[in-house]
Amino acid sequence: MSLNININQNYFNVKKNYLFSEIAKRVNAYSAAHPDAEIIRLGIGDVTLPLSPVVVNALKTASDEMGRAETFRGYAPEYGYDFLRKAISDYYKKFPVDLSPEEIFVSDGAKSDVGNIVDILGDNEILIPDPVYPVYLDSNIMSGHKVTFLTGSRENGFLPLPRGIEEKPYIVYLCSPNNPTGAVYSREGLREWVDFANKTGSLIIFDSAYEAFISGNYPHSIYEIEGAKSCAVEICSFSKTAGFTGTRCAWSVFPDRLTAGENKLSFLWSRRQATKFNGVPYIVQRAAEAALSPEGQKQCRESIAYYMENARIIGEVLKSKGIYYTGGENSPYLWLECPNGAESWEFFDYLLENVQIVGTPGAGFGAAGEGYFRLTSFGSRESTLKAAERLKGLL
Ligand code: MLT
Repeated sequence: MSLNININQNYFNVKKNYLFSEIAKRVNAYSAAHPDAEIIRLGIGDVTLPLSPVVVNALKTASDEMGRAETFRGYAPEYGYDFLRKAISDYYKKFPVDLSPEEIFVSDGAKSDVGNIVDILGDNEILIPDPVYPVYLDSNIMSGHKVTFLTGSRENGFLPLPRGIEEKPYIVYLCSPNNPTGAVYSREGLREWVDFANKTGSLIIFDSAYEAFISGNYPHSIYEIEGAKSCAVEICSFSKTAGFTGTRCAWSVFPDRLTAGENKLSFLWSRRQATKFNGVPYIVQRAAEAALSPEGQKQCRESIAYYMENARIIGEVLKSKGIYYTGGENSPYLWLECPNGAESWEFFDYLLENVQIVGTPGAGFGAAGEGYFRLTSFGSRESTLKAAERLKGLL
């Protein structure tokens, strides 16, 4: 017998599969039909280098502590251990941004925070860049919110600004360096957004998950811009920076002065987290703390340099073929125009079938991504070099 309940109808308004699940499904089907094919996966941005030694040591030490009665820990504090909140607040000093540990909320992933923040927000108008990381759109559709797109294009460098937009309050999602395009907002660009938000009473949700890949003179945190603490939440992650995609640790910043009327957003978020989340494991938080130590930072920088060299290798092939692309300089993603006017999914099939390379179709990041394609530099050097050779032969 079937249930006689109401279900959330908004789920019928999102695509049937999440973008990266759809890709995995298609690649698995190809692989089943071609069991001998050597597939190179440059689709989902999943890291391939192992955790750095300083992080592994911290995991081991913390595991030993968990195995002794005197140092065993149960539930972690809902918002993160003080030692990690303090380490993250110290990390921001180099930008320089001054945040107190109490303004930092540790979680199990930027994706979780980006998806969960809708819980504390009412029914607002949402502005979402297009193309962009699909979680912003999907989570708002699931909540039945009205979404307006900010179109990114070759003309605006995939960095839409608040120009020609009606001046009223919105929830604005920004991602810089952008996933998927790799485009990074300048100080001036972010200042326009912060000024717009403060003028209209809008909230910016700033996703800085790729900030550690910035090598140029760009802001790493939105709080580098004056006035951002009264209009922005920032969400960042250890996933790409310290190789934590499988280890899970991230944080969100809710500045003390971020209020809607009388209400502090930090209060709402802490209330949500206390009810629905039971904290990140102690051993993982110790590992994250180690990643932020001077030695941890050095080792993370080495991994990032390795990935950025991969990006350079792929970029060289695209350049040599005269293919327009962005990214790959301050971001691990390369965003290219599909050759010969191909559509994104068409190009996905073409690469998979002809050279067994998996990428991500631009259309999966929004309608404005149609005709584009994303390749990640998170593969191993060996597979990146192999992919470069195959692309050289094909394109
Ligand atoms: C991506 O490929 O866009 C990312 O891996 C997705 C994520 O971080 O959730």
